[in-house]
Amino acid sequence: MSSRKIIIDTDPGQDDAVAILLALASPELEVLGLTAVAGNVPLELTARNARIICELAGRADLPVYAGCDRPIKRDLFTAEKVHGKSGLDGIELPVPAMALQDQHAVDFIIETLRREPPGTVTLCPLGPLTNIATALTQAPDIAERIDQVVLMGGAYFEVGNSTPTAEFNIYVDPDAAKIVFGAGLDLTVLPLDVTHKALTSPERNAAFAAIGTPVGKAVAAWTGFFERFDKEKYGSPGAPLHDPCVIAYLLRHDLFSGRRVNVEIETESALTLGMTVADWWGVTDRPPNALFIGDLNAQGYYDLLTERLARL
Ligand code: BDR
Ligand code: CA
Repeated sequence: MSSRKIIIDTDPGQDDAVAILLALASPELEVLGLTAVAGNVPLELTARNARIICELAGRADLPVYAGCDRPIKRDLFTAEKVHGKSGLDGIELPVPAMALQDQHAVDFIIETLRREPPGTVTLCPLGPLTNIATALTQAPDIAERIDQVVLMGGAYFEVGNSTPTAEFNIYVDPDAAKIVFGAGLDLTVLPLDVTHKALTSPERNAAFAAIGTPVGKAVAAWTGFFERFDKEKYGSPGAPLHDPCVIAYLLRHDLFSGRRVNVEIETESALTLGMTVADWWGVTDRPPNALFIGDLNAQGYYDLLTERLARL
């Protein structure tokens, strides 16, 4: 079976890290490169963290590109209070020795999509959509060459985690999100509606720790770190492990369910900036533009994660 080619666009982040490790552990996927974007922490740190994760996985050969250091039209809003100052707080890992690529992430995305046969590369954004939107704006011809975009972002029934109505990745760069959601792509969205059902628990964290490898230990330490913030915020028994849902969806569609609906991005209102207005009940005549995922088999998701991470 030939593997599916993906580019992971990311702002690591502990949950981004777990998503990247899941992809690198999975032979069904060929990761062509990691493209870093400013988000959870500034670009310098997300580009550094992406390389730390590659080295942890024994993949210093994987190209890592730095992309946009700020949203298209707005100041950068970061999330150190969730992810810590480094973005990967929870465990001390070595400063990466592998180099960052010279090429800009946006140029890498464009060049790769133009080089590979049409419909063979899937984009997996795990952070604000600045790099992807910039690539689509600079090279509109790539839109029809993308296989799928499967992203973590947005919220509807679960409303917001950064404002009362907006999820972090969309809130940081709503103008970029508007471009991506309006580009006529084959788009799958993993919003808070589903990721807030993918909660850590003492048993699930213990399963990561029991892997016993450097990867298992790091994942257990990371989940232990960001869990503290989320449990207090939501009053929930665990914390949502958001971004790996994107990779798990590629590996195991059967664990997830959702609806094809219209999703529009609010970019004007000060009150609801960055809201993903999903027409879940089909009450408008706006055409569907996304598969909006709403539910998952949470234990199946954690079993998949544990089984795959043990391979690294
Ligand atoms: C998203 O925001 C970030 O903090 C996480 O890495 C995830 O991508 C969840 O809202
Ligand atoms: Ca992220």
